Amino acid sequence: MMTWWKEAVVYQIYPRSFQDSNGDGIGDIPGIIQRLDYLQTLGVDVIWLSPVYASPNDDNGYDISDYEAIHPEFGTMEDMEQLIDEAKERGIRIVMDLVVNHTSDEHAWFQSAKSNIDSPYRDYYIWRDPVNGKAPNELRSAFSGSAWKYEPQTNQYYLHLFSKKQPDLNWENEQMRKDIYQMMNRWLDKGIGGFRMDVIDLLGKDADNQITGNGPRLHEFLKEMRRETFEHYDVMTVGESWVVTPETAPLFADESSKELNMMFQFEHLMLDEQPNTSKWQLKSLDLPEFKQVFNKWQTQLPETTWNSLFWNNHDTPRIVSRFGDDQTFSVESAKMLAILLHMMKGTPYIYQGEEIGMTNYPIQQIDQAQDIESLNLYEEKLAEGWTEAEIMETINAKGRDNARTPMQWTAGQNGGFTDGEPWMTVNPNTSEINVQAAVNDEQSVFYTYQKLIHLRKEHPIIVKGTFKLLLKDHPHIFAYEREFEGETWLVTANFSPETIRCSLAETSTPNIPMIANYDRSEYDLNELTLAPYEAFVVKVESNEN
Ligand code: GLC
Ligand code: CA
Repeated sequence: MMTWWKEAVVYQIYPRSFQDSNGDGIGDIPGIIQRLDYLQTLGVDVIWLSPVYASPNDDNGYDISDYEAIHPEFGTMEDMEQLIDEAKERGIRIVMDLVVNHTSDEHAWFQSAKSNIDSPYRDYYIWRDPVNGKAPNELRSAFSGSAWKYEPQTNQYYLHLFSKKQPDLNWENEQMRKDIYQMMNRWLDKGIGGFRMDVIDLLGKDADNQITGNGPRLHEFLKEMRRETFEHYDVMTVGESWVVTPETAPLFADESSKELNMMFQFEHLMLDEQPNTSKWQLKSLDLPEFKQVFNKWQTQLPETTWNSLFWNNHDTPRIVSRFGDDQTFSVESAKMLAILLHMMKGTPYIYQGEEIGMTNYPIQQIDQAQDIESLNLYEEKLAEGWTEAEIMETINAKGRDNARTPMQWTAGQNGGFTDGEPWMTVNPNTSEINVQAAVNDEQSVFYTYQKLIHLRKEHPIIVKGTFKLLLKDHPHIFAYEREFEGETWLVTANFSPETIRCSLAETSTPNIPMIANYDRSEYDLNELTLAPYEAFVVKVESNEN
């Protein structure tokens, strides 16, 4: 089996906010093509492209009305093919977002199914009779409210685990599955690099028993999908799941399972919320707990199950604003977070703008929000009696718009994202945080990412080494060792804005850093004084030598 994806670094593009090329204020595919040289300079191997398919944009493209058409706002199929080719010329593969838990309600299948019980597409979706004049059960939508919507024309409800405009597909229907596989194969034949699979654990749902994730036939469907599609291509696959654990990850991603190459798990991004509530119930991060979660994912997976590594994506806040300090130590903490993550075992993903330290952009009022999730949440929490201030606080901390502000290319008008009126306001800190400034400054966050990518290509220990957590109860230091073929690397990060003293070895041989975020020529592991958010990686000289 080809495993180039273990060595690869992936860069996620949220196309609507990456680069506008025609002045309509919306990022597009020709805009991405213009920026391929930049991504090549950064050194990434793969682009995961968030959806560019035809869509009414109820959930910004995660509601697809035609899997085989490009949304005119983003360009044409010719543009898409050109992107695949031009990326390939630069050694970059394009991974498409596969959203097959649901379609848009404007998809031709649903249009036919909706009004006609006898349509061949009726059973492509999940319909149920009313129960006592009400919804069939208590299932809730991830975007607030019931997951069932009544359709008067046929007197039945359909299931939507996301918005009303995202009806869930019925994976029990074999013909539907075949249609999806054929669509996937047509994309694979265009030469794409694989699929990122949206909410993949929901496919096997059993709506009647209110089972959504990890339903009874899920793994049967995923094995079938692989056999019928990507098994025959040299591509990578990564599945998104908010509920996967180290115990269930191998079911999806172990080599022997014959399903996917790796999973996106979110456990490390759920520790700043009250346990068993929702992401909106804020809590501050407890570092020992955080380290324990990483330790678990780094050490408890079988040797044959691969990890993904990521700090943020289009659904989560910007990492420097979340676990770093986007005010006083924005550069230091952004670099610290990069070093800490990229030295772990797994395939790293960079979300657009992370590599220059882009930050959250708080809003003052709800009418500045764009995302359906935040807009619905606002109504729901108001009805539950939250104050306006409480709602805005949580939306500013966790809302998805934080990650979706346009990419900051320059200090100029609209950050160089568009010549027109941007679909979403550009963060005013583009005056300081932007690609042009980053590329011109050797000390910028950008060069830390570039160097991390280079190190990965040169040192097999980063891909293959074992992981050992150190100082597990330390409240401020995150330190671990990697080991491979007799070589040991030590990764140390001060996860706080304070100066911290600690000791990581008994001998005091000076160690020269492989990479660091402060300008120090050597580290004495016996007596360390770490500046705020300081991080470094050293090759540990063994005592015997
Ligand atoms: C995934 C996507 C998210 C989308 C949801 C429904 O979580 O990443 O953006 O809203 O699925 O498709
Ligand atoms: Ca455009």
